[in-house]
Amino acid sequence: MLVLDDERYDFGPGSVIHIPFRSPHQLYNTGNVPVVYLSALAWHLESFLNMGRMEQLHDCGMNDPTELENFPQEKSQMWPVDGRRIIMRKDEHVLTTRPGHGATYSLGGTGREGTGMTSNGFKMTATGITSIFVENPHFKSHSHSHPEAYLYCLQGAGFSEIGGKEYHWEKGDAVHVPPGMMHHQHFNPTDGETRELRFEFGIRYWMVDQWRGFKTVDDALVATKIEEEGQGEGHGHGHGHGQHGS
Ligand SMILES: [Fe+2]
Repeated sequence: MLVLDDERYDFGPGSVIHIPFRSPHQLYNTGNVPVVYLSALAWHLESFLNMGRMEQLHDCGMNDPTELENFPQEKSQMWPVDGRRIIMRKDEHVLTTRPGHGATYSLGGTGREGTGMTSNGFKMTATGITSIFVENPHFKSHSHSHPEAYLYCLQGAGFSEIGGKEYHWEKGDAVHVPPGMMHHQHFNPTDGETRELRFEFGIRYWMVDQWRGFKTVDDALVATKIEEEGQGEGHGHGHGHGQHGS
């Protein structure tokens, strides 16, 4: 469970959590097996802006059952302060049909206009855990380019072409799409689905706002069978500048 501003939010596999800037928070493992989670933050950027500040309120250690009982359960998944979403659970993942991938589960994007990422009530600005991309067996995603993104493989195995090189990945691996507008495309050559968790960085959209002539073209591109030539085909051919997806 998460305790944030003295309120208790229970989480499990597939839950997405947003910690608002400067909110006191603490994680408790109330089960009998280790909890493993992925955390995304823009610490270097926040430090550079003199906003990166860590205050240690309690040390880690064994749970105190009395303490756990006394935290009030969440009244809402939305933050009482300004209504933004704090938590989304697995049964609330929204399946969308963006054509660049086999399917996309929409989680917590920044919701900025032009990003193609919904917010689902979250107000993630510096970093967002935005989506789960599904690639179907023997399909590839669209080919596109944009500033930095980050993927974490949840299921299956495949490879990405980034800047003309192949990088193979499987469940548990992470893929970094560098911030240099490198063309990239994701391939699933296997008989099973692949699923990748996608992270975005809000500064990317600030950058493209400043980018004279920047335009998105990859909305027109679709996921296609690997052996087919077509709109999704990349392999180093120029497709202009795209901003969406990963
Ligand atoms: Fe991408």
